[in-house]
Amino acid sequence: MSKDYSKYLKPDLNKARKRTKEKVEKILYQINEEALNIGLGKTYNVVTFGCQGNEADSEVISGILENMGYNKNEDLASSDVIVVNTCAIRENAENKFWGTIGSFKALKQKNPDLIIAICGCMAQEEKVINNILAKYPQIDIVFGTHNIHLLPDYILEHINSSKKVINVFSNEGCIVENLPHVRVSNKKAWVNIMFGCDEFCTYCIVPYTRGRERSRDPEDIINEVKQLVADGYLEVTLLGQNVNAYGKDFKEKDYTFADLLIDLDKTGITRIRYTTSHPRDLDQRTIEAMTLPSVMPHLHLPVQSGNNEVLKRMNRKYTREEYLDKIRRLKELNPGISLTTDIIVGFPGETEEQFLDTLSLVDEVGYEGAFTFIFSPRTGTPAATYEDLVSMEEKHNRLDRLHDKINQGYLDGNLRFVGKVVKVLVDGYSKNDPNMLNGYSEHNKLVNFKGDASKIGQIVNVMITEAKTWFLMGEEVE
Ligand code: SAH
Ligand code: SF4
Ligand code: F3S
Repeated sequence: MSKDYSKYLKPDLNKARKRTKEKVEKILYQINEEALNIGLGKTYNVVTFGCQGNEADSEVISGILENMGYNKNEDLASSDVIVVNTCAIRENAENKFWGTIGSFKALKQKNPDLIIAICGCMAQEEKVINNILAKYPQIDIVFGTHNIHLLPDYILEHINSSKKVINVFSNEGCIVENLPHVRVSNKKAWVNIMFGCDEFCTYCIVPYTRGRERSRDPEDIINEVKQLVADGYLEVTLLGQNVNAYGKDFKEKDYTFADLLIDLDKTGITRIRYTTSHPRDLDQRTIEAMTLPSVMPHLHLPVQSGNNEVLKRMNRKYTREEYLDKIRRLKELNPGISLTTDIIVGFPGETEEQFLDTLSLVDEVGYEGAFTFIFSPRTGTPAATYEDLVSMEEKHNRLDRLHDKINQGYLDGNLRFVGKVVKVLVDGYSKNDPNMLNGYSEHNKLVNFKGDASKIGQIVNVMITEAKTWFLMGEEVE
């Protein structure tokens, strides 16, 4: 039975800050029977912004809509339901969403029966909901990151009442198992292992939009991966905002991320990747587990800054020296491991000397890639109130200097494979050259190569002939 959705349930970032010790309830997804088949003969499209967590959520949203009978429609303009899964991490992510949603006004005018639903991290911000109510009548449904499984109820309610439905939980909900997925790939799968984040880095909105850290039961994850293996999948990417904190919330058992890697290695999956790691929680057992045959020799380990004072004000809870020590141990046990990172420049008050510490750390680690960002104040986070005297021009200048170094790292990281044979999971034809195939190597390098198209979806050996900054070139060999 549907609940009463006639009253708006709006989010509250202050409430979202609170953490309880209560046990997280696990429930099994079951579709509201009244919603079964209401999409028959109709179509949907999901627009996704943000991180892999959102991509994985969008696969679940697609699964739920297909449960209801809707079919996927590549063409937005002729869809009957559009779900926009949003990201709040930086101002430009939010601006992209407002641009997109503005353009949907015309779609709604053409097709008044079109249902537009908004979800994801922006839906968890009260300022966003207030803006939607004031200026975006074209939006019919808003739900948050904790209640995706209730989407059938919301669509049903909107169809029955023709009213706007706004239902966003500020505190985390339960862990929902048995969710349907429509996966984008039939060889590579996202697998959520935990939800939420308890780190509260002072610049970051995620702990407020995704709630407290909750780990899925190992059995549920292992069974999901076993099923993926049975379905022919070759690669899984384990997802969480801080996968190294996996299991810390278990009350009855002592089971950590390293234990999970060890157990998943036994499922027969060929490749395991994971993201994202928090350096403080990366322990020695996980560093050792990186040597398991199925765990790929690439680690994304966001450092954010190379200066201890800045790290402290970011609340990262590690020092430059501790970070470098973990990098040393990673390299010692996994020679040739490829390391990538995230870096923020222009954190409030960052001085030129402090920025130079970041540049020197980049040199010391030898990153082979990085996502780099200019600090973006997020309303409700502590750093948004910090005094910021660095000009935007100076921040751009720092970003440019950082890019030069990072790009050199990309190139050096690629050059080391020239003349070597690497294993590539073939994704398909290259977008830039339809005569070439492409895919990713074990070290997560994009490889474009000449080869046999019947091997799409398989792992092949490729001899690397040339290195560019962003990709490798090669030829398939036996
Ligand atoms: N949980 C992951 C990813 C968080 S978001 C982690 O901790 O690494 C991805 C990246 O966005 C972060 O690593 C950080 O570099 C960047 N980021 C987060 N908030 C930001 C902000 N307010 N301004 C600029 N960059 C930000
Ligand atoms: Fe944000 Fe920090 Fe959590 Fe990553 S670890 S999601 S940067 S608060
Ligand atoms: Fe964005 Fe939310 Fe992911 S803010 S980066 S979609 S966790």
